[in-house]
Amino acid sequence: MQRDSTTSKQTRSQSANTRRVHERLIELQGVSVRLGQRLILDHVDLRVLRREIVTLVGLNGSGKTTLVRTLLGLLRPQQGTVVRAPGLRIGFSPQHFHRDPTLPLTVERFLTLGARAPRARLRSLLEELGAGGLLEQQVADISGGEFQRVLLARAVLPDPDLLVLDEPLAGVDVASQSELYRLIGDLRDRYGCGVLLVSHDLHVVMAATDRVVCLNHHVCCSGRPRAVVQNPEFVSLFGSQVAETLAVYSHDHDHRHDMAGEAVPLGNEVHATKVNHDG
Ligand SMILES: Nc1ncnc2c1ncn2[C@@H]1O[C@H](COP(=O)(O)OP(=O)(O)OP(=O)(O)O)[C@@H](O)[C@H]1O
Ligand SMILES: [Mg+2]
Repeated sequence: MQRDSTTSKQTRSQSANTRRVHERLIELQGVSVRLGQRLILDHVDLRVLRREIVTLVGLNGSGKTTLVRTLLGLLRPQQGTVVRAPGLRIGFSPQHFHRDPTLPLTVERFLTLGARAPRARLRSLLEELGAGGLLEQQVADISGGEFQRVLLARAVLPDPDLLVLDEPLAGVDVASQSELYRLIGDLRDRYGCGVLLVSHDLHVVMAATDRVVCLNHHVCCSGRPRAVVQNPEFVSLFGSQVAETLAVYSHDHDHRHDMAGEAVPLGNEVHATKVNHDG
């Protein structure tokens, strides 16, 4: 994960440009994960290519963080395979990070724990992410939205091939969400990395992602975000009010979900026809 801290931005950018554009960075093939007595991930296929932003959406408890942990190698699947590109560097921003209010820790120190980087690079990175001027501040003192930006900077610092961001917009004000999403797109362009993003901010997701994967323990559907589509299955997951305000990605689907989240086959009269277990 570590790279020469003196490498200039230009050199990084040039090396990013020479990387293969659509290289497969990571792939989950038929991955099943059981935690306790429950099957949390059920034959999940998913892949992320270089320069692609893939967004994972799904209700609370649908297995998104479990999938992220599996992808990072923190959980071992009972079934299936995780294939990583050789030498893959992953930058990760976790969903939850407990900030100890009694721990004296500056943002600079936090960013350089386990990853040396010149102060000028830290400063410019934070500036880029709309968090300039935070370097000397205490981690415990900065706001939730500011901390999200610091976490993003920390994930980007090792110049990763793959950025994995578990709900990076949580706590970020609505006005800044689109801006932050745009920044993630910029990072993808500059560093030539792939991005796997977990997000509940569907309106932002639909506008600015290459591919959306909808998870409910299994992959319900996946596809490119498109203009608003009143898909009955998406509506059954997220509710009609949400669906009406979104540009929902288009996808095929052959089931809806009951109250327990179980897949229930649709009758022939419903127009959507097949599950796209997209990887
Ligand atoms: N170690 C564990 N042992 C047993 N069950 C677990 C464990 N970790 C997670 N779970 C359960 O697995 C399910 C999926 O959890 P996960 O954190 O992956 O959901 P999520 O989609 O990320 O939800 P959220 O949107 O709330 O972040 C939940 O019901 C959770 O309670
Ligand atoms: Mg989660």
